[in-house]
Amino acid sequence: MSAPKKLFIKTYGCQMNVYDSERMAEALGGQGYETTQTPDDADMILLNTCHIREKAAEKVYSELGRMKGLKAANPDLKIGVAGCVAQAEGEEIIKRQPMVDLVVGPQSYHRLPAMEQAVQTGARALDTDFPEDDKFETLKKRAKGKRGPTAFLTVQEGCDKFCAFCVVPYTRGAEVSRPADQVIAEARELVELGVKEITLLGQNVNAYHGHDGGLAGLIWALDKVDGLERIRFTTSHPNDMDDALIEAHGTCDKLMPYLHLPVQSGSDRILKAMNRSHTAESYVRVIERIRAARPDLLLSGDFIVGFPGETDQDFEDTLSLIEAVEYGQAYSFKYSTRPGTPAAEKEQLPEDIKSERLARLQALLSEQQRRVQDRMVGRDVKVLFEKVGREKGQLIGKSEYLHAVFAEADPALLGQVVPVKIVASSANSLQGAVINLP
Ligand code: SAH
Ligand code: SF4
Ligand code: F3S
Repeated sequence: MSAPKKLFIKTYGCQMNVYDSERMAEALGGQGYETTQTPDDADMILLNTCHIREKAAEKVYSELGRMKGLKAANPDLKIGVAGCVAQAEGEEIIKRQPMVDLVVGPQSYHRLPAMEQAVQTGARALDTDFPEDDKFETLKKRAKGKRGPTAFLTVQEGCDKFCAFCVVPYTRGAEVSRPADQVIAEARELVELGVKEITLLGQNVNAYHGHDGGLAGLIWALDKVDGLERIRFTTSHPNDMDDALIEAHGTCDKLMPYLHLPVQSGSDRILKAMNRSHTAESYVRVIERIRAARPDLLLSGDFIVGFPGETDQDFEDTLSLIEAVEYGQAYSFKYSTRPGTPAAEKEQLPEDIKSERLARLQALLSEQQRRVQDRMVGRDVKVLFEKVGREKGQLIGKSEYLHAVFAEADPALLGQVVPVKIVASSANSLQGAVINLP
């Protein structure tokens, strides 16, 4: 048998890309590829790209530039571009980047084995279709092999919401849900491989309709999977937080008390211009209901500053909403013009205003996050230990609330959910002590 070929995948963007990268590696595993941690000795390099903001997309081209040397040194090296930039600009890439051998979109990567064969004959391959055949049916079972105790599992793809700033409906296509039995089968395979915590993924995961009971129905079905201890989901849209899902936060023990619920802006005028189809008030009401079901829930959000037309008052409204909600985690961005989206046609705000607003917003958010994190000191949490720390005898894991927790612990506890008392809070993590049960 010939030696395995080496595949290096670099992943940009969201968790859905992380999941796709794993699946692409598994698909190419059947072609005799093993993954490698460095591009230097690779036979194939795949860049799994993100198109969400201008800077994210630019990174791909600078990375390709850096790879010229590798290709010169090894003419047999194959270079592929996958993900959302591939979907949006695939044809351009094939035309303008002669060093790229293969371009594959997020909906067609189950065809990678055939594309790889074509590329080996010297051809160049482009596939950015939204095929009728079910990607997940073709991909089938998850590859056996060593893996950590947490895993992502994509259950829903695409978006029909068309927020005025966003490329996702164009790069990922219309909303599609995987059938619940397919998802449950994959969850069981992951659990057999040692996974204890699964994060269900979707661009609008709570619009999931592959189960009669929606996402809540799927969560309750997964609740019955023996050996699966924790369930999370991301990203959800405020308009799709239905009663059953809110209730599950209070009643399903395996569903973790953490929710990422982006609002983008606290100004109704801007929310309308963004085509978000919710108001600041309706968002806050949804949060009140979720917190009534699960009072200790840690809330996370996404914010965009400097959307076209955003006034000082609109921005102040966003700060007020943040004050009212109190986030334990948040992601915030300057608005980035995306070609082909409606907001790109509008008059743009100057860069210095965006920068100034982002700095103020992030200062407020970090203060809140620190406050929420500091309040954990003295509390007992459960930590799923995921890896060994840099200090001797130390393990690192995540609490129910997704805080990173360091603790001195027996390495035998790796991959297990362990009770821990939080003793200190530092910039980005908590320090804990394992509670030794009698
Ligand atoms: N489906 C999710 C988020 C998808 S994109 C949702 O609806 O919430 C992730 C985040 O990137 C968004 O929540 C938004 O805050 C940010 N984002 C998307 N497009 C952007 C743009 N053009 N400029 C800046 N940030 C953007
Ligand atoms: Fe983008 Fe809006 Fe869809 Fe989220 S809901 S993916 S922000 S269009
Ligand atoms: Fe980026 Fe595509 Fe995810 S644009 S954020 S990789 S869906």
